[in-house]
Amino acid sequence: MKFSIDSKAPKAELLLISLFKGEDLSSAQQALIGKDFAKAFAARRKAKDFEGEKGQSLTFYPEKGSLKKIIVLGRGDKEGDIPQANEYWGGTLSSLCKGVKNVAITLPEEELEEQAYGFVLGSYEFMRYKKEDKKAPKLESVTFLTKDSKKAQAFLKKLAVFQESSATLRDLTNMPAGEMSTKDLEDAARKVCKTHKMKLTVFDEKKLRKMGCGGLVGVGQGATHGPRMVLMEYKFKAKSKQPNLAFIGKGIVFDTGGLNIKPTNYIETMKHDMCGAATVIATMEALALNKVPGYFLGVLCCAENAVSDRSIHPGDVLTAYNGKTIEVTNTDAEGRLVLADGLSYTEKNFKPKAMLDVATLTGAVSVALGPHLTGVLGNDQAFMDEVLAASRATHELAWQLPLDAVFTKAMKGSFTDLVNSQNTLRAGTSTAGAFLKEFVGKTPWVHFDIGGTAWADRPTPTTKYGTTAVVLRTFVEMAERSY
Ligand code: BES
Ligand code: ZN
Ligand code: ZN
Repeated sequence: MKFSIDSKAPKAELLLISLFKGEDLSSAQQALIGKDFAKAFAARRKAKDFEGEKGQSLTFYPEKGSLKKIIVLGRGDKEGDIPQANEYWGGTLSSLCKGVKNVAITLPEEELEEQAYGFVLGSYEFMRYKKEDKKAPKLESVTFLTKDSKKAQAFLKKLAVFQESSATLRDLTNMPAGEMSTKDLEDAARKVCKTHKMKLTVFDEKKLRKMGCGGLVGVGQGATHGPRMVLMEYKFKAKSKQPNLAFIGKGIVFDTGGLNIKPTNYIETMKHDMCGAATVIATMEALALNKVPGYFLGVLCCAENAVSDRSIHPGDVLTAYNGKTIEVTNTDAEGRLVLADGLSYTEKNFKPKAMLDVATLTGAVSVALGPHLTGVLGNDQAFMDEVLAASRATHELAWQLPLDAVFTKAMKGSFTDLVNSQNTLRAGTSTAGAFLKEFVGKTPWVHFDIGGTAWADRPTPTTKYGTTAVVLRTFVEMAERSY
């Protein structure tokens, strides 16, 4: 699907015009649809057939030229709408393009980015198992009818990269666990590294054991396909020997909960517990496609949290890469165990200027923030403020949660340095963050908990089913700002 900006709708079969409540067609829009339809529209408007209410629409069928259909859509009240309204509107427009090859969309210049991102997200479909629908015609071109500028053209380039990298992320994470082992995840990273000439390093179970990565080894030991730590290194016009940024992702290809097994209604979607790792792979791909200058490191902490006679038991003690001992009080709190090794290994061996980790770490974050806001926690407020600014700029909503000393205290063990879960404080996202903080030294670090935002339990205009690709834009933006 190709995107362009124009003032005319040259080859489009479908023209989409959106109006807020009470808004009239602009003179440019009138010119686009032609005198006769503009007149007909004015009459319908006068008769109160169409007032721009959300859900209202008028359809016109031109008889000459390539244009076959014009839909004027109501967007309702502009005031008081939710922050993601423009992005969702883009998603809604994408769903009107079934069976259409070329579409033109009028939109205000200041809404281009949000609507276009929403359009890309909304058009994504996971087609691997839909043999029938594969034959349906695909949307080939989208023309945004808005003011052209250098900034808008630069954005279109980024949009094309987002289209590709967000599909990589979503294809990987919508894939059922039966077809996505730790080896498959490693291979997905290898493919991106090969295409974009990045360095790939893989530590398998044997090597991880030698290295002392007790978290990864412990979580992964019950599965047929062993755990792995996968490193992806991208350098382009790098000024420093230290990575500008390291991205660390939780890559649990399936989370059964382990011996603390998850019950029905909690286990079904756990193939998406590798969204963190897939976000890192997609980020590295996007950085290469955008030719972002700098040195960036991606670290995937891959394991399957399986149930078997070899699985870790509640009460087992693991020693992480940095030497801290952990009593596994709950085998379902496995994400923090694999990230513990990923964070401390990265900091010690690469000394990045800053670290960002991303993980479907807790169910608690969706209790605190719901499905639209990602929880962010960190050890350095100045760096956190940069992250929050990047998330605002890319329209990916995030909200900072606390990492106070009370949470750190709650994660201390009675006979080990740490426990991996506690029942005294609740505040599951903060206690998980406090656990991770034990594996980060002085490096500025922010942890993204996408446990509530990575998977759409209910369909939204931008995600019909499955994973949302959340945080990818913020990561790419952070990399661009880091140089
Ligand atoms: N992968 C889950 C968290 C999760 C749940 C992500 C639902 C997305 C949707 C994680 O490994 C987990 O099970 N966390 C536990 C931690 C608890 C045992 C301390 C949780 O949040 O319940
Ligand atoms: Zn779990
Ligand atoms: Zn998990």
